[in-house]
Amino acid sequence: MKRIGLLTSGGDCQALNAAMRGVVKGLYENIEDLEVYGFLNGYKGLIYCDYRRLDSRDFSGILTKGGTILGSSRVPFKTIHVPDEKGLDKVAAMKQTYNRLTLDCLVILGGNGTQKTANLLREEGLNILHLPKTIDNDIYGTDITFGFQSAINIATDAIDCIHTTAASHNRVFIVEVMGHKVGWLTLYAGIAGGADIILLPEIPYDTDKVIDAINKRSQAGKGFTILAVAEGAISKEDAALSKKEYKKRVANRMFPSVSYEIADQIMKASGQEVRVTVPGHTQRGGSPCPADRVLCTRLGSAAAKAIIDEDYGYMIGMVNGNTKRVPLKDVAGKLKVVEPDCQMIKEAKRTGISFGI
Ligand code: F6P
Repeated sequence: MKRIGLLTSGGDCQALNAAMRGVVKGLYENIEDLEVYGFLNGYKGLIYCDYRRLDSRDFSGILTKGGTILGSSRVPFKTIHVPDEKGLDKVAAMKQTYNRLTLDCLVILGGNGTQKTANLLREEGLNILHLPKTIDNDIYGTDITFGFQSAINIATDAIDCIHTTAASHNRVFIVEVMGHKVGWLTLYAGIAGGADIILLPEIPYDTDKVIDAINKRSQAGKGFTILAVAEGAISKEDAALSKKEYKKRVANRMFPSVSYEIADQIMKASGQEVRVTVPGHTQRGGSPCPADRVLCTRLGSAAAKAIIDEDYGYMIGMVNGNTKRVPLKDVAGKLKVVEPDCQMIKEAKRTGISFGI
């Protein structure tokens, strides 16, 4: 007999349901008696004891379904020790819910912030497993996160569509790609979509170099230029500011995002027509791609095996093609960023892609 809880926390992505299905199928197939509790809307469900009893039927037909059947919310880690408006101690409340349901394990699906709270609950003595979810691919200790590959497909489609219209009108186009503070999604979608210039948070750009790259293409008779710009891209001047100064600068920026600012600078310096496209949350939506379905089935199944083995306190990651139990204590709070001098960047540069430096 096992009682397990599931919750999905933070920004959603395409393969959350696929991952939960993997866990639950892996358990139902191998355990006689199983009770599954799904906490609603992320950590809120655990704090306020808001849950649904689920059975195997709830996990049928959801492999291809985007979003999360449990709902999600953001409860930032920095607020976890702050009592709620009624003075409730959130950590104590989460432990109480877990103990009241006499859970054997809580499986938490989420990104970096979610993982920090998962590790805190582990430190508080709960049996925790974490599954690495995010389109940003920035979770340390796993080669890949789920949602990432589906989001690459969508962002690449956006760049593909821009290509044809950019070529017809001889325009400069900027496609702004999600990814929070890291550039993985922009790097992959940018290369896959044939972007000429890729700007990442990890490689602060020089505006003059960006404009030079556009002018070089024009001089070579190429009428259009496509830039894939990460939402967190930063100029070298801004990168030199302190965190506080940079926050102030962003708050006072007269543009909705970095892409619009770059567009303005390009228009002024080159006289070229520039358009900005922001696919935004479409990158997190729709059905998971086949690669994510496979990844989640494997991660979910590996989590089920850890539960069967009663071996807790891990993120179930993917390392060198194999699932791996990665101790949460070793990875919580760490970020996986694009290394500016990694092989992939060097290879991209060799094909003529400019990183604005
Ligand atoms: O972490 C996933 C992500 O989509 C980031 O790429 C993006 O910066 C952020 O979430 C957007 O958050 P929200 O959905 O709260 O606007």
